[in-house]
Amino acid sequence: MQSSLQAGLHVGIIMDGNGRWATARGLPRALGHKAGIAAIRRVVEAAPDQGIGTLTLYAFSSDNWRRPQDEVTALMGLLRRYLREEAARLAKAGVRLTVIGRRDRLPGGIAEAIGRAEAVTVAGTALHLRIAIDYSARAAILAAAAALPDSRTPSATEFGHRVSGGPVPDVDLVIRTSGEQRLSDFLLWESAYAELHFTQTHWPDFDAGDLAAALRSFAGRQRRFGGLTVPAEAA
Ligand code: FPP
Repeated sequence: MQSSLQAGLHVGIIMDGNGRWATARGLPRALGHKAGIAAIRRVVEAAPDQGIGTLTLYAFSSDNWRRPQDEVTALMGLLRRYLREEAARLAKAGVRLTVIGRRDRLPGGIAEAIGRAEAVTVAGTALHLRIAIDYSARAAILAAAAALPDSRTPSATEFGHRVSGGPVPDVDLVIRTSGEQRLSDFLLWESAYAELHFTQTHWPDFDAGDLAAALRSFAGRQRRFGGLTVPAEAA
């Protein structure tokens, strides 16, 4: 079987199961999200050595505003803290951080913390870490369409850059933890030919070994991109 493992993969992760992880331990859901940050650290550290060039993490969807106010507040607090405390560590590790999604609805100081973290890490070349906050793939596609400068139909590449906020490679692999098997409005344009990997593991338990297992599964896939053979660049 052809292998599709290659350097510079774009992997997207839907980090699901924080609440169930906490509930199973008799803990408040917010502590599940806190434990999820430790998993983020493990995966970001392991990613470059596992051939990942771009890693997009789904931290807060635009539909997550519907959650109870105390959980939204806890998540926003964790995000603020992560951005403030992690930027220097990411910069040192050569990780470039960018945030995708709307910034105008984020509470106190988060938009500023995003701007600072992006500036501090801008020179990173080991990994492009993208965190999706107040993110909706459909909204990103609609915004890109609304901002087209003329009535000419753009190429898929040009339009894709508008959707992604820059020249980001298409997603190779989407991982979703905790047993659900759906995309939940995550990177819909960029994942047109993505392989999908679902695991029962709750996100706070996810580690470098789980990432390696997902990539092994990916390496065994035959990616034909609609053709009958595996293109050389994906082989
Ligand atoms: C899904 O679990 C997870 C989220 C909605 C939030 C993900 C956030 C983190 C991992 C921590 C904060 C992120 C950063 C970048 C600092 P769920 O709550 O839907 O779990 P459940 O399905 O078991 O209820």
